[in-house]
Amino acid sequence: MDVVLNHIKNNQLHYIEELKELLKIPSISTQEENKGDMQRCAEYVAAKLSTAGMDRVEIFQTPGHPIVYGEWLAAPGKPTILVYGHYDVQPVDPIDLWESPPFEPVIRDGKIFARGATDDKGQMYMHIKSVEALIKETGGLPVNVKFLIEGEEEIGSPSLEPFIKDHLDLLKCDVVLISDTSLYAPGVPTLTYGLRGLCYMEVELVGPNRDLHSGTFGGAVANPINTLAKIIAQLHDKNGKVAVPGFYGDVLPITSLEKKNFSRLKFSEKAYAKNLGVAELQGEKGYSTLERTWARPTLDCNGIFGGFTGQGAKTVIPSKATAKISMRLVPNQDPKKIAKLFEKHIKSIAPKSVKVKVSSLHGAYPAITPLEHAATKAATIAMEKAFGKKIVYMREGGSIPIVATFDKLLKAPSVLMGLGLNTENLHSPNEHFNLTHFGLGIQSSALFFEEMAK
Ligand code: BES
Ligand code: MN
Ligand code: MN
Repeated sequence: MDVVLNHIKNNQLHYIEELKELLKIPSISTQEENKGDMQRCAEYVAAKLSTAGMDRVEIFQTPGHPIVYGEWLAAPGKPTILVYGHYDVQPVDPIDLWESPPFEPVIRDGKIFARGATDDKGQMYMHIKSVEALIKETGGLPVNVKFLIEGEEEIGSPSLEPFIKDHLDLLKCDVVLISDTSLYAPGVPTLTYGLRGLCYMEVELVGPNRDLHSGTFGGAVANPINTLAKIIAQLHDKNGKVAVPGFYGDVLPITSLEKKNFSRLKFSEKAYAKNLGVAELQGEKGYSTLERTWARPTLDCNGIFGGFTGQGAKTVIPSKATAKISMRLVPNQDPKKIAKLFEKHIKSIAPKSVKVKVSSLHGAYPAITPLEHAATKAATIAMEKAFGKKIVYMREGGSIPIVATFDKLLKAPSVLMGLGLNTENLHSPNEHFNLTHFGLGIQSSALFFEEMAK
């Protein structure tokens, strides 16, 4: 194994150069104009899987963006690991806040800056390099490995679930390995064992049949923006609980063991608040910040629009107002059920003076990986070896929609071996990835395959 680890250390500079090429491709999944870039990016990933030594590599077209598949299955009797990742990235706006252009990767201070650096191109690429190093130095892999790299994670993975349903045999595996989450802190080996789910809704209120002069009509009709603001303000009670009836019905309470584990982690509310530039933190009464973000469900308004938003003033009562509202879910909440409860509640509290339309944009089930699973143990040993430090187990407030599907359809648990940091500006301007973690991730991946063979 030492020759493999040395190979990885000696090739770090090549790996970074290749990662730069990947980061130059603007694979923004939500934008129609990047359709060609999505195909180009899938081809780049496929080419790198071939050079790494995969025996079969294929690009599958979908109604949305292409899925890249690769396999090396010459370890009979050994477990099969499915590596999942995504090559799509978030949009770049607000563009003027980037210190260097988002698709012109540069290294500053040991970090590579570009959209997708940490989420998820840099992290996904670690596994391609680890299999390459293993194959080059040992002539093969200690386990069977499949790659499933998609281009629609950031838009809720709409094509992936049907693809999995149609390719159950192709994707059959014992364990899924994913690097698309974060370390608890820089240099601290971390495994994430829980992800929140998501229920993303849009609420549209329509008042008068056209925009009105606010002097002539003001006072006589409901203003949809005022009404929407009142509705949103009612969605939490005074204790910070979500006020949608039935919302907490299926929530699994945090166990006392988990409470204890969370409270043992080094965490400073003060430093956390300072990093975010807020004077104080807030949330559901009776829970700590880690509990609130990892293991409790929440409701947030992501965007609100309507009326006049241009420069200066325009006196108008708008005809329409819209809010995008998302709820992060925890086990055992069901996004479909929550969407129904939400719609019913919004309709019940909206006054007759407006018409209400509630629609569901997308959803994801929450997921938990059992800590007792053999794969968690293998991943623990691998990361502790690579980092030379003791592992930390955490949960994550974000979502990876397909993880619950792997569980349900492939009956395989997901090992969440994330090497990012929550401070690396994922989804924000100046996204970056720590290159020390990039190298440690490649080593952790190789060591994980080796441990799994045992
Ligand atoms: N990699 C993230 C999930 C994540 C977020 C992990 C924060 C660790 C920390 C993933 O790409 C993501 O952004 N997921 C979306 C899912 C949504 C678009 C369906 C999310 O959580 O908002
Ligand atoms: Mn991601
Ligand atoms: Mn993301």
